[in-house]
Amino acid sequence: MIDRIPSIDIVRFSTSGTEAIQTALRGARVFTGRNLIMKMDGSYHGSGDIAEYDSFVSPVRKGLSPHIDKEVVIGYFNDERTFQIIDQYKDQLAAVIVEGVMGAAGIIPPENGFLNQLQEKCRQYGIVFILDEVISFRLANAGAQEIYGLEPDITTLGKVVGGGMAVGAFGGRADIMSVFNPSKPNAVHHSGTFAGTPIAAAAGIAMLKKYQGETIIHLNEKGNQFAEDLKDLIYEYNLPLTVTHIGSLLNLHAIDTPIKTVDDVRRGNQTVLQAIQLAMLNEGVFFPKRGMMSLSTAITTDEFEFVLAMFDRVFKKYSMFIE
Ligand SMILES: Cc1ncc(COP(=O)(O)O)c(C=O)c1O
Repeated sequence: MIDRIPSIDIVRFSTSGTEAIQTALRGARVFTGRNLIMKMDGSYHGSGDIAEYDSFVSPVRKGLSPHIDKEVVIGYFNDERTFQIIDQYKDQLAAVIVEGVMGAAGIIPPENGFLNQLQEKCRQYGIVFILDEVISFRLANAGAQEIYGLEPDITTLGKVVGGGMAVGAFGGRADIMSVFNPSKPNAVHHSGTFAGTPIAAAAGIAMLKKYQGETIIHLNEKGNQFAEDLKDLIYEYNLPLTVTHIGSLLNLHAIDTPIKTVDDVRRGNQTVLQAIQLAMLNEGVFFPKRGMMSLSTAITTDEFEFVLAMFDRVFKKYSMFIE
């Protein structure tokens, strides 16, 4: 992983992305001597308290610490407001954590150098810039940071880097990562019974060897083609739907205006999206009700064609319904 991701000098392993992120955030606090964390509205960074905090559900309703809003400040993906908020809290911010591509929120790629500007702001104020590549690592040899020309201070990883086994990892600048060095006095504690468990490590190494270069390019091309075919169907039936996509990641939205932010996603018609999801399930194709799809190297051309044929069938019914 160090060979593959130039921004990573040292990497540490855990059993999930959630744990990797919690630990990385602690490290950032100790490194900077500051407490506040910025995360983007609607982003998903696992199920730790900081990660779960968001603007639209009260912390108490989610069972989070009632003081969580003193520890986390919300930024907005692809939105200039974020930079003003960082200016406002610059002396208190330990870290800004952001996804390489907004994943669970609806596959929203960064626009107009948003992540580059974010990284620049963090550099300017000595804030640790954490890029969460738990989902976006699959997009290139070194993940979204390669695509967008980023050099995060810390990268968090999970999912594919375990080759299907339970894994999480975080790594980055040697000076920041050294706060975890157990041979140093007052090192930040990082342990876990199964952290870096040999089975996950072996599966991860096998995956890293197989999933690189041409294989990634090929899967991304398949994803782009699939997204274009889906868009063609939407166009053909003139449906109020939109597909966001990058490489092997895509998301169907029940809205017909462009999607650049999480607020755009929230304006979508969830009832329609869920109806399409259920109709697809009836045809033998499952995807989550939020419309996200991520392709795997194992999917064959026949399977792609089957899924598209089922979308065709469902969209045809839907078009009759709205006319
Ligand atoms: C971007 C992102 N970060 C972190 C996580 C959490 O990873 P885990 O489920 O391994 O705790 C996820 C999981 O979906 C994710 O999508």
